[in-house]
Amino acid sequence: MNVSRPVASPQAGPHEKLAEVVARHLNHPFLKPYAAHTVAAFEDIRPVVESGGKPLIFDSCCGVGESTAWIARLHPEALVVGIDQSLHRLDKHDRAYRKGNADYLLARADLNDFWRLALDAGWRLSRHYLLYPNPWPKPGHLQRRWHGAPVFPALLGLGGRLEVRSNWKTYIEEFVRALEVAGVPSAVEPWNPATPMTPFERKYQGSGQDLWRCVAELASG
Ligand SMILES: C[S@@+](CC[C@H](N)C(=O)[O-])C[C@H]1O[C@@H](n2cnc3c(N)ncnc32)[C@H](O)[C@@H]1O
Repeated sequence: MNVSRPVASPQAGPHEKLAEVVARHLNHPFLKPYAAHTVAAFEDIRPVVESGGKPLIFDSCCGVGESTAWIARLHPEALVVGIDQSLHRLDKHDRAYRKGNADYLLARADLNDFWRLALDAGWRLSRHYLLYPNPWPKPGHLQRRWHGAPVFPALLGLGGRLEVRSNWKTYIEEFVRALEVAGVPSAVEPWNPATPMTPFERKYQGSGQDLWRCVAELASG
């Protein structure tokens, strides 16, 4: 098993500029043009999503999609879409993680665009998982963390029960604070699953690291 070290960061707690950055993004539309490959990936799955009439669940940053298959088995009433930008990770799915009967799709896409496309198309989520996003622990990288990114309002607008997990407590503390700035209550919770649901969860837990999560009910925009 891969041993993994806890996240190291000069930040001892939430970034001092967090609330200011989140408020700015909430008040200014994110207008960056969409990448063609993400538009193509979105249009590829759009007919299936829009014809199914099922509740929709996103597994954003799904990596190899192990959690996507797991969530689809947990929620047979829903269509689950796993999204990740890494072809290398998604390519591993069929070899090791595909589950035959579950209803799910995988899309290779940049979430900075995919969330906005989904929001503009009127898609609304029943649940949204964001499991072990890259922490970007340097203070100068605050805006690469999802709650510090200009796309954060689109993530909120998609609605649903949002669950974010991380091995970096500060990430979850910041996420909860960013949600608070947007008027959404949540809390930092320790997370200790009996069975890990993703490769990163397995690796962190197997290395004895503490895990954290927050859960929020988002009103769709
Ligand atoms: C630390 S991995 C976690 C993967 C998986 N959730 C797990 O727990 O095993 C973070 C994932 O986020 C994906 N990712 C990072 N930025 C992304 C973006 N802008 N759009 C889509 N995926 C992204 C990476 O490709 C990577 O697979």
